[in-house]
Amino acid sequence: MRKTLIAPSVLSADFADLGGELRRIEKAGADWVHLDVMDGHFVPNMTFGPGVITAMRPHSNLPFDVHLMIESPEQYLLAYKQAGADLLTVHAEACPHLHRTVHGIKEMGIKAGVALNPSTSEEALRYLIQDLDLVLVMSVNPGFGGQGFIPGVLRKIKAIREMADAAGRDLRIGVDGGINVTSGRQVVEAGADVLIAGSYVFGAPDAAEAIASLRS
Ligand code: DX5
Ligand code: ZN
Repeated sequence: MRKTLIAPSVLSADFADLGGELRRIEKAGADWVHLDVMDGHFVPNMTFGPGVITAMRPHSNLPFDVHLMIESPEQYLLAYKQAGADLLTVHAEACPHLHRTVHGIKEMGIKAGVALNPSTSEEALRYLIQDLDLVLVMSVNPGFGGQGFIPGVLRKIKAIREMADAAGRDLRIGVDGGINVTSGRQVVEAGADVLIAGSYVFGAPDAAEAIASLRS
């Protein structure tokens, strides 16, 4: 199995010092930076858009994993690519033409992911799995950091890993929401290999220790 990647979510960072926070997690051993974009429509919260991501980009050498929790994401793909996204993830629930949107991302030369809310079946990916670089399994209802992990998603992670293996597709499966040492171990056992963690990393007294504990 491939190395498990740790992607701290800046949703739980100090928004008044994003540059400093990016340097802090890079030094602490993070693999990716997870950026939660929320529009106040698809989810009941708002964060930041491409302008803030453009401003953050020079402060990190890590890949930017941009999680779009927005309606009509197809209208904004180029803006997020130009802002510095290395991987763009859209929600299946926000995309009536998901195949087109995923291919729109790939045609820009960056990686494409699809996120599934806790109540969305993995069947939404059945005819698309071979085109994806990442599946992002939401283990909380998106919108806020610091919520509790929903254990029912473990079965879904297993099912997605089986679907990917059957398609001969070596994709990454990320899990987002309520990740700590206990839930992190469970999701990796189920077949995930990217751990997104907001409050667990940014709320820890020592980010390097928190990241190392997730990795082990
Ligand atoms: C939730 C976001 C997550 C969030 C996770 O809508 O997509 O990335 O930051 O936060 P924690 O790790 O605190 O659950
Ligand atoms: Zn996220």
